[in-house]
Amino acid sequence: MKKLFLFVFFVHLNNLFAQQLDPAIESKVNALIDQMTIEEKIGQMNQYNGFWNVTGPTPKEGDAAEKFQNLASGLVGSMLNVRGVEEVREVQKIAVEQTRLGIPLIIGFDLIHGYKTVSPIPLAESASWDLESIKRSAELAAKEAAAAGINWTFAPMVDITRDARWGRVMEGAGEDPFLGSQIAIARVKGFQGEDLSLPGTIAACAKHFAGYGFAEAGRDYNTVDIGLNTLHNMVLPPFKAAADAGVRTFMNSFNDLNGIPSTADRYLQRDILKKDWNFNGFVVSDWGSIREMIDHGYAKDRKHAGELALKGGSDMDMESLIYIEHLKSLLEEGKVKVSEINDAVRRILRVKFELGLFEDPYRYCNETREQLVTGSKEIVEGALDMAKKSIVLLKNHDKLLPLKKKDQKIALIGPLAADKNSPLGNWRIAAENESAISLLEGMKNYKGNELIYEQGVRLINKIPAGFHEEVDINEDDYSGIEAAVRAAENSDIVIMVLGEYGFQSGEGRSRAHIDLPGLQQDLLEAVYEVNKNIVLVLMNGRPLILNWADEHIPAILESWHLGSQSGHAIAQVLYGDYNPSGKLPMSFPRSEGQLPIYYNQKSTGRPGANGGDNGSVFWSHYGDEKNSPLYPFGFGLSYTTFSYSDIQLSNDIMNDGEDIIASVIVKNTGNKTGKEVVQLYLKDHYASAVRPTRELKGFELVELKPGESKKIEFKINRQLLSFYNALGVWEAEKGDFTVFIGTDSNTKRKASFVLN
Ligand code: GLC
Repeated sequence: MKKLFLFVFFVHLNNLFAQQLDPAIESKVNALIDQMTIEEKIGQMNQYNGFWNVTGPTPKEGDAAEKFQNLASGLVGSMLNVRGVEEVREVQKIAVEQTRLGIPLIIGFDLIHGYKTVSPIPLAESASWDLESIKRSAELAAKEAAAAGINWTFAPMVDITRDARWGRVMEGAGEDPFLGSQIAIARVKGFQGEDLSLPGTIAACAKHFAGYGFAEAGRDYNTVDIGLNTLHNMVLPPFKAAADAGVRTFMNSFNDLNGIPSTADRYLQRDILKKDWNFNGFVVSDWGSIREMIDHGYAKDRKHAGELALKGGSDMDMESLIYIEHLKSLLEEGKVKVSEINDAVRRILRVKFELGLFEDPYRYCNETREQLVTGSKEIVEGALDMAKKSIVLLKNHDKLLPLKKKDQKIALIGPLAADKNSPLGNWRIAAENESAISLLEGMKNYKGNELIYEQGVRLINKIPAGFHEEVDINEDDYSGIEAAVRAAENSDIVIMVLGEYGFQSGEGRSRAHIDLPGLQQDLLEAVYEVNKNIVLVLMNGRPLILNWADEHIPAILESWHLGSQSGHAIAQVLYGDYNPSGKLPMSFPRSEGQLPIYYNQKSTGRPGANGGDNGSVFWSHYGDEKNSPLYPFGFGLSYTTFSYSDIQLSNDIMNDGEDIIASVIVKNTGNKTGKEVVQLYLKDHYASAVRPTRELKGFELVELKPGESKKIEFKINRQLLSFYNALGVWEAEKGDFTVFIGTDSNTKRKASFVLN
């Protein structure tokens, strides 16, 4: 018991540091709360979307007029989707100069992967496994957004997911809680920096709390039904990592979790987040999620929804307009307590003070800085650097890549080859349309070869009017295929650029079939008939079904949606000016029937690797599909090769308080400098709750010159072996463990030890 107490004590100590309170701020918060009326307190809990173009006349009728009146009366605490110094200054002036107490607004925005300069989608950045670069990418995004008046981002999205049908896989860090936790920390630190009051840093937001990535059948907003073991061991770790990294806000999720909408889930928001994790920032609801509890069948009406949300720990109401409408009467009827309102308001004011908004409400409103920072060389170069590092080489038969730089006739074919929109991905709200560098433009930078471009087939029939519209896929116009085939016939090599339109992944973008959409497969096979020297460049926001391509196409490059600098990044990798170093953060399935598919699965009682006992059917398998993914988690090739020595362990017994050092020697056995992500997986052979067959517990990104070797060491300690066990306690359990170290989650290189 003593050991458990000490462990809990040290974990709590860590939380205290991460969520340390500043006494000076606390006294200001308390002094302000004492002056506030109940209406003004509730106003702080009310968040509006930008409801009028502030550079135009103020609204005089309808709900916009009412919203404007509330803003001018100090009944609004935050706004989202107001951007640009001019607009932000206008709304801030109303809040600060026209209201009784002049409490500044906190201005939120979905800075998911860049602002005007768009970085790779988060799933792509996660494929870099480069924590420093991911942190830098968030830092640069914060800089550009802060210069436009934004001081709070609704990111990082840290939802673990194993189902590529779900559109929002593009927004997170994939299927693994360890990688997801490390990336959550990097993004929070990138956005918030060391000092939140600096004008180039912004408050971050861990979302969507919790379980959203486990939406049943991969259908967005669908119900989530998972056990405590999965919740605590798979879903919560990245949120806990974000809290420990000092994230200042959380956003709850649309889904119900085991029957309770997260927006009103006391267990999640009060017991775990605010009590156990000692989180002292604030929780914002997702868009309208308080109101949606009526649709869930959890709240009788709007007023009841407001009561449930506040009691469940939601501090700010994003666009349900329920807190502003009903909290006062709920208080008067004794349905909610003033202490619950005060706690929410305290949390919100705390973050505003930390941002320095009371000291200078216009700290983020500097037109000169906005001009200087937006699209600056530093930010554009950062987007290119991140994009290159996010690319994953999936296949390179006979070293077809990198391309020769001269005397080649290259056919560049596909609906995404010249597309300047799709590479911007889904959350590109602040970016200009058509602002991405297309691959056609990137390839034109290399003058030594002859380049012929053909679209082949249109992917979509018309550009969606915006964010909300279904994408209309071309399913019947084959007219461009003949010209593409002719171009391929007369070329030395063909670069095919296929995948998903930018708005085919993201929120509300689930797909039941995750093959190449439209007529792209027809185009690929028609070109293959006349020229087999094909490099397939994929642009997509999720894992796709690629069986035919993997079987026939000699080189395949996963380039996701890489943002503003997409074309330059891909071209530099194709020509070998950057040696691809990415590794998959999500398994690529062979068929939708395998979903959800993930590497860290349980063994089952009938794992029978080769058909069970003497070929019987009685083992966990499909009669018509393999169990394994087409490409596993952690997989990615390079233009060079690496060898690994056997694993050395400093000991094969781990006693109390001891660590074990596991090491390998990695060598670059090729003729190009390259980076390798050395991955450490652990297997806990038996425990009070069944454990995954292996789990990522460490990785190191290492760059080696040709012939160069490096010893890579991992420290294994009890914390690394701990899990949420059958008793609901985080601890390591004695027993047998196996260490795997290698180039992806399929590695067979192993060594064993015993934990005493
Ligand atoms: C959306 C998303 C959430 C986003 C919010 C504000 O519906 O679920 O991730 O931050 O609304 O745009």
